[in-house]
Amino acid sequence: MGVEVVVEGLTKSFGNQNIWRDVSLTLPPGEVSALLGPSGTGKSVFLKSLIGLLKPERGRCVINGVDIVTCSERTLYETRKLFGVLFQDGALFGSMNLFDNVAFPLREHTRKSETEIRRIVLEKLEMTGLTGADDKLPGEISGGMRKRAGLARALVLDPEIILVDEPDSGLDPVRTTYISQLFLDVNAQIDATFLIVTHNINLARTVPDNIGMLFRKELAMFGPREVLLTSDEPVVKQFLHGRMDGPIGMSEEKDGATLAAEKAMFAAGHGAGGVDDVTGVPPQMQPSPGLPERAGSRNRTDRVMQSLHTLPENAQHAIVESLSPEARRHYGVEGGDTHNYGAHAAISQGAGSPVD
Ligand SMILES: Nc1ncnc2c1ncn2[C@@H]1O[C@H](COP(=O)(O)OP(=O)(O)O)[C@@H](O)[C@H]1O
Ligand SMILES: [Mg+2]
Repeated sequence: MGVEVVVEGLTKSFGNQNIWRDVSLTLPPGEVSALLGPSGTGKSVFLKSLIGLLKPERGRCVINGVDIVTCSERTLYETRKLFGVLFQDGALFGSMNLFDNVAFPLREHTRKSETEIRRIVLEKLEMTGLTGADDKLPGEISGGMRKRAGLARALVLDPEIILVDEPDSGLDPVRTTYISQLFLDVNAQIDATFLIVTHNINLARTVPDNIGMLFRKELAMFGPREVLLTSDEPVVKQFLHGRMDGPIGMSEEKDGATLAAEKAMFAAGHGAGGVDDVTGVPPQMQPSPGLPERAGSRNRTDRVMQSLHTLPENAQHAIVESLSPEARRHYGVEGGDTHNYGAHAAISQGAGSPVD
């Protein structure tokens, strides 16, 4: 069962360089959330702050009642056991085969027997599609396999929260979709809370329940996927389309003069690159056939329907459209004006707390 992660007013600087400030969000238990943002906006720093590898100077990050920003080293050590982390490169030990890599946290953190360790490692290797690869060295396998091995290792201590840093880096679009499928399958099986940091637009559009975006040192947005995917914010649209035309520049945010000069260039006909057809909310990927329904997905629908009327109208439409006919009946949103959808839902479900 996944746990909730509550981040409030988190601010992180290195010396006098502020990375981001006043970041507040709640990762709902068992749901899959994604964090987007241009390179260098501090997404990896954010993940490291969540597990206490970096210390933000202000704010709180509360997990199971423990604020990991201010807790003792000992409590932090204990709380970290709730996390499984898949770093960008898999972070495997190059001289150890996959079996020993995946067994490592069990040998470090538990007193389990080698027989028990073997059972767990083989189970996680199977779960991540690596059966039979246990004696391979990381250097002998593909990037996709290394990432899956990193995930297998992140799973051995039965984490309640799984953090993933850019799972698509170095993978082709097809392998990226396969690893996305694996995240949803794992989520369906163990109900862990996920946060996936990514630049990958396909993944962002089709995998998470919730999406946030870091921009200009702040969390520009965090909420149900439909809110970001139907947003008219220039930075969100630019990011989703991968265009040069917009506030994100080559290495940082553009200043006013650069924006104006580029605007003239694009107006004169120079292409802004990217793609045009990234609009709307595509269907969310589902767990593989035969796996249980995701509890997180069910909970999210309840949560979002309770606060539907507080969301932008485009997002409301997209959410209602994604419901099955039975769910529409259940929530009393079978047609008519979307503004009434939320009101009906709020009445039939009782007043819920607003989504972040
Ligand atoms: N340990 C550190 N010490 C100083 N600066 C750091 C450290 N880690 C990251 N940074 C800086 O923080 C900024 C954000 O980095 P990062 O989180 O890696 O960005 P992202 O993952 O969004 O691409 C960068 O400017 C980087 O140089
Ligand atoms: Mg990073």
